[in-house]
Amino acid sequence: MAMRENWSGRFGFIMAAAGSAIGLGNIWRFPYIAGEHGGGAFLLIYLGVVLLFGIPLLMAEIMVGRAAQRNPATAFRLLGGRRWGLVGLLGILTGFIILSFYIIVAGWTLAYVGFTVRGLLDSSDPAVLAGQFDTFTRHPWSPLVYAGVFLIVVLATLASGVRAGIERANKVLMPLLFILLVLLTIYVLRLPGAMEGVRFFLTPDFSAVTTATFSAALAQAFFSLSLGMGCMLTYGSYLSRDENLPFTAASITGLDIASSLLCGLLILPVVFAFGFDPASGPGLTFVTLPAAFANMPMGTVVGCAFFVLLLIAALTSAISILEPAVSYFVEVHGWTRPRTVAVCGAVCFALSVPASLSFGLLSGHRLFGMDYFTLVDFTATNILMPLGALLTAIFVGWVWARQARLALANDGRLHQPWAPVWLLSMRFVAPPAITWILLSGLGLL
Ligand code: PHE
Repeated sequence: MAMRENWSGRFGFIMAAAGSAIGLGNIWRFPYIAGEHGGGAFLLIYLGVVLLFGIPLLMAEIMVGRAAQRNPATAFRLLGGRRWGLVGLLGILTGFIILSFYIIVAGWTLAYVGFTVRGLLDSSDPAVLAGQFDTFTRHPWSPLVYAGVFLIVVLATLASGVRAGIERANKVLMPLLFILLVLLTIYVLRLPGAMEGVRFFLTPDFSAVTTATFSAALAQAFFSLSLGMGCMLTYGSYLSRDENLPFTAASITGLDIASSLLCGLLILPVVFAFGFDPASGPGLTFVTLPAAFANMPMGTVVGCAFFVLLLIAALTSAISILEPAVSYFVEVHGWTRPRTVAVCGAVCFALSVPASLSFGLLSGHRLFGMDYFTLVDFTATNILMPLGALLTAIFVGWVWARQARLALANDGRLHQPWAPVWLLSMRFVAPPAITWILLSGLGLL
């Protein structure tokens, strides 16, 4: 096999991993989920979940990848035996499922950049914008064209390889993303009435908290940190054995939380300043926000900047969602990278067709009470990713524990005083907690 590629250094890795983590999950999903679960109370629970489970699991995933220097399926098989290889394969499969609905929303975003520039969203009436959104998403092929264009950019980046493709794109796009995010937030916070949104976002209202809040927070944490599907494992497999894992994991998580907080401070104040409903669900970004943009001074510029921001975030994440599969076919089946990328892309696109059509032609069809889009989103986010995370925790905590401690300490070269606490969490805290939340999220408890 040809020499395996790796990151040029720590900065490249952190940018790529943060690029994976910061995505539609932070900008499109986080604010409306927080809105539905009582704002500040959700925020506190979310932060707790991230510290308790997010960072330790992120370390575990990166560590497994770094130790094996292989794709998820081979990594688990090399370190734990044949049966564990299935966990890696499950992750690779999950990636296809996630990307199939992810590129649909990313495609909408691309379309909305164009709509804003052309002045097509110039209404301050959410009902009009909801109509526009419905007409667009219901169209049989138009959203698929946008999703296809988006996917081609993702594939082109992946085909260029780890350093020249993934790392280079992230090193440019991530700083740009933060600049846009900070500028937009500052602008929005100065609008009259914005502080009410800030108060809603930061003041905890515990009466809105139920068990569902905890499972929503956990699912959001895994989705946002790209955990449980081999993505961080694959990125970790290109990382040098000299890096300090807790430091890198904390940096990635810090950037991810910072961006979610900024998005909450950007989006909820806009919603409040114009008197809209913060719990308006997935349509918040595409219906409520454009209505608010139309009301504000320089609305077209702000709207355009916002959708570009969303597009960048979606792009750097989508790239990472497919990398586990790409590395698998290259390493295990010996395909060339461009060929692998083309085949994986075609499969993803095929899977995304029903996801898009579930807003139109297939909207009447229900399975387990959900349309296809909701079903695949739910399956991946609330079942497969927590399941992958659970199995990873069990693997690291019980099967591979001794080596894991060594790997955490870079084979004894680093002193890691927190290692026993981390191992305890992998053994006794994460598995039961994830199981409980997984089952209650499914309505089984
Ligand atoms: N973390 C990404 C987001 O928040 C989504 C993602 C999930 C990326 C799984 C990679 C793997 O949008």
